[in-house]
Amino acid sequence: MGEIIIKTPEQIEGIRKSSRLAAQTLDYIAEFVTPGVSSGFLDKKIEEFILAHGAVPATKGYNGFPASCCISPNEIVCHGIPSEKSILKEGDIFNIDVTTILNGFYGDTSRMYSIGEISPMAKNLIAASSHCLNLGIQQVKPGNYFGNIGYVISRYARSRGFSVVYEYCGHGVGISFHEEPQVDHSARRNSGPVMRPGMIFTIEPMINQGRPSTVVDKKDGWTARTSDRKLSAQFEHTVLVTPTGFEVLSDSRGEYPVT
Ligand code: MF3
Ligand code: CO
Ligand code: CO
Repeated sequence: MGEIIIKTPEQIEGIRKSSRLAAQTLDYIAEFVTPGVSSGFLDKKIEEFILAHGAVPATKGYNGFPASCCISPNEIVCHGIPSEKSILKEGDIFNIDVTTILNGFYGDTSRMYSIGEISPMAKNLIAASSHCLNLGIQQVKPGNYFGNIGYVISRYARSRGFSVVYEYCGHGVGISFHEEPQVDHSARRNSGPVMRPGMIFTIEPMINQGRPSTVVDKKDGWTARTSDRKLSAQFEHTVLVTPTGFEVLSDSRGEYPVT
């Protein structure tokens, strides 16, 4: 196990710029989310946007991943592969996850989108997963334990009748795609390493309607689905530990509203 990198002010500024671009990519794609659009088309627009802003999509070619983002509809937990054949329709919910490399620095963020009218269950799950991320972010301050992020997330998710995916985690990010530490979204109070100013990592809880377990598609080796095929939702931010608390680097306007 490696060390948790404390980023320099120059590195922080580079990661801030990359993270903000990733967030702006998620803003940009919203207007293309319409009934009948393919996830492959959304991926193409995302790639164009990232390249036009002088960055590259970190996922393309990463361990053989073929696309510029991950698009994960409905029962897909994460790592959905965008495809012209995957058509998004009324009632669908899906996560788009973008990681940019700008001037060598990584920024990683994801959000939920939906098409038309969605079920009350889907709405509740999306609201809960968004709140889980906010609760996790509010644990970020020097001296606190990483475990408290997962502690508050899992306590809240369970209180709403949902479960927390334990097979995929948040991660240190910035100089590389996946750095130390692993950020668990379900953890014991006051467990794990201690947060220090200059640490940068993602929080990206995947919250399930039913069981927490997942299965990876045997054919493509990527797509992770809920094992019971019920819904899953996820939001992700790249977060900096500041001397007094946190800064959400992947906010498209650079001012994170806590809800
Ligand atoms: N962006 C994802 C994360 O949050 C990782 C995607 S890796 C890929 O960590 F290869 F599936 F693209
Ligand atoms: Co991530
Ligand atoms: Co991501």
